[in-house]
Amino acid sequence: MRFGVLISGSGTNLQSIIDACAAGLIAGEVVVVISNREDAYGLERAKFAGIPAIFIDPRACDGADDYNHRVREALELESVECVVMAGYMRLLGSEVLGAWPMRVVNIHPALLPSFAGAHGIGDAFDYGVKVTGVTVHFADEVFDQGPIIAQEAVEVLEDDTLGTLEARIHDVEHRLYPAALAALADGRVTVEGRKVRVAAR
Ligand code: GRF
Repeated sequence: MRFGVLISGSGTNLQSIIDACAAGLIAGEVVVVISNREDAYGLERAKFAGIPAIFIDPRACDGADDYNHRVREALELESVECVVMAGYMRLLGSEVLGAWPMRVVNIHPALLPSFAGAHGIGDAFDYGVKVTGVTVHFADEVFDQGPIIAQEAVEVLEDDTLGTLEARIHDVEHRLYPAALAALADGRVTVEGRKVRVAAR
């Protein structure tokens, strides 16, 4: 499966996906990485792995529709089959979502529908929950809302700081996202309304 990965930041999830593809754990490859931020370190990770790395400047676009159109064009140019949002901090428009139905996925560092939004780890920590976690889901036009593919719980320990909790959440992300993408690439994922079934390998 040909993956196009959308990022805005450091790209540690991107790295875990590149590594899992290289190790043969995912029957696929990352064929393009697109960022809405020029300074996103994930672009360097892509270049280092020999993957086309594209910065699309939202300020150079004529509004959100034009931006999404350019994203779609860049993905189509590489014949992307599955669009992977990995720390991508923009809402994807209907043009991209419509072009890859049930093939646009996102990762969120909390157990959705709890603590949606840009600060899932900190919001859960500040709330004082005892359990939080990671969610991989199909994207739709509302942030953090589409059908859930995979979730894993992470316990909040008595002596956790935000930093130690973040580290454990990211460890889970770097395992759960590649596993979910492996299932998609294998054709082991079926969707009926909001219910997503993932068959064992
Ligand atoms: C991850 O925690 C992801 O769940 C969230 O943004 C973060 C991105 O981190 N959406 P990275 O860029 O993959 O290192």
